Amino acid sequence: IKTQVGIVGGGPAGLMLSHLLAKTGVENLVVESRDHETIRNTHRAGILEAGSVKMLTDSGVNGRVLTHGDEHTGIDLRFNGESHPLDFTDLVDATVTLYAQNEVFVDLAAARKRDAGDVRYSSEVTAVFDLETETPKFHFTDADGNGFEVHCDILVGADGSRSFCRRAVPGTQDFKIEYPFAWFGILTEAPKSSPELIYANSPHGFALISQRSETVQRMYFQCDPNEDVDSWSDDRIWNELQRRVDGSDGFTLKTGNIFDKTVLKFRSFVREPLSHGRMFLIGDAGHTVPPTGAKGLNLAFADVKVLFEAIDSFYSTQNSALLNGYSDLALKRVWKAQNFSYWMTSMLHTPVNADPFMAKRALGELDTVTSSRYGQQYLAESYTGWPHS
Ligand code: DHB
Repeated sequence: IKTQVGIVGGGPAGLMLSHLLAKTGVENLVVESRDHETIRNTHRAGILEAGSVKMLTDSGVNGRVLTHGDEHTGIDLRFNGESHPLDFTDLVDATVTLYAQNEVFVDLAAARKRDAGDVRYSSEVTAVFDLETETPKFHFTDADGNGFEVHCDILVGADGSRSFCRRAVPGTQDFKIEYPFAWFGILTEAPKSSPELIYANSPHGFALISQRSETVQRMYFQCDPNEDVDSWSDDRIWNELQRRVDGSDGFTLKTGNIFDKTVLKFRSFVREPLSHGRMFLIGDAGHTVPPTGAKGLNLAFADVKVLFEAIDSFYSTQNSALLNGYSDLALKRVWKAQNFSYWMTSMLHTPVNADPFMAKRALGELDTVTSSRYGQQYLAESYTGWPHS
């Protein structure tokens, strides 16, 4: 198969890039190892920066994010049993949109199908090679076991945190840290407990009260990375979540049937550089952030924007200057998001057996942030997303 851009990975990043390229007439092929159903049922974060929403709407993916997305004008930071609302509109004149990442995938997949895009699901990439030539190539096997060789001008690794593409090449350096905790995530049939998302620091650990709709809610609590979901009954989960948001105001979670339970392990990771010859890494393939602050998908979309403009320039001017600059430019935002995600995570979580000094220090930090307009603005600006380059 010959194509201009070969995209390994059909999650939101790969499909968004494919969609933008197709709109400017750049031929591309997407190869994804999972099937559509599996990705559709993979629950991830749900917060979109305004810039990410704009990428979906400006490019005509469709308007579902506008009709089904829920605009949020702030968050609530809860600690010492008290709520501290942050109003993003007032602080930085920006908002975010709650729209689940799997819905973003569904919309993008539908748009690719509508526009007759070539997306091969259930197809495993088995080799990437000739990356340092002008015709990078890869092999894949489709769902029926047929093998293909793809020749392209540009190869993109959009294949997630365990990226085959990334592992096929040596980077200059991999940067990573692990965390001694994970998130226990649930979906529940319950009404909203609060109008805004609640990020809670408590002596029992972190909790996040998020939402999906009027009738379905998403919540997380800090847990051991090896926690077994089957040892958690609904009652036990509700007790754990409630004690992490308990306070003198008597705030009480609205409970309901829990229909999805998952332990989400995470880490901070960056591969440098984000390119190797004619292969470029976008999204989780190149970097992953811990989930606190929901930067993962937004960062992936920011990569897509930078890479799309570089590829567009490559075909319209025959000049590869922007392609050569992709890694450096994308990494600037990556490290800002790494800092923000690490900062939110360490401020809001208390490691088991933490030095009591560290737990108290985090409360001092939360107080510093919430008691000053500058502090609130610092968080609000990062949370709602820096301008796209
Ligand atoms: C959600 C996840 C996050 O990591 C976050 O910071 C906010 C919301 C969510 O799944 O709704």
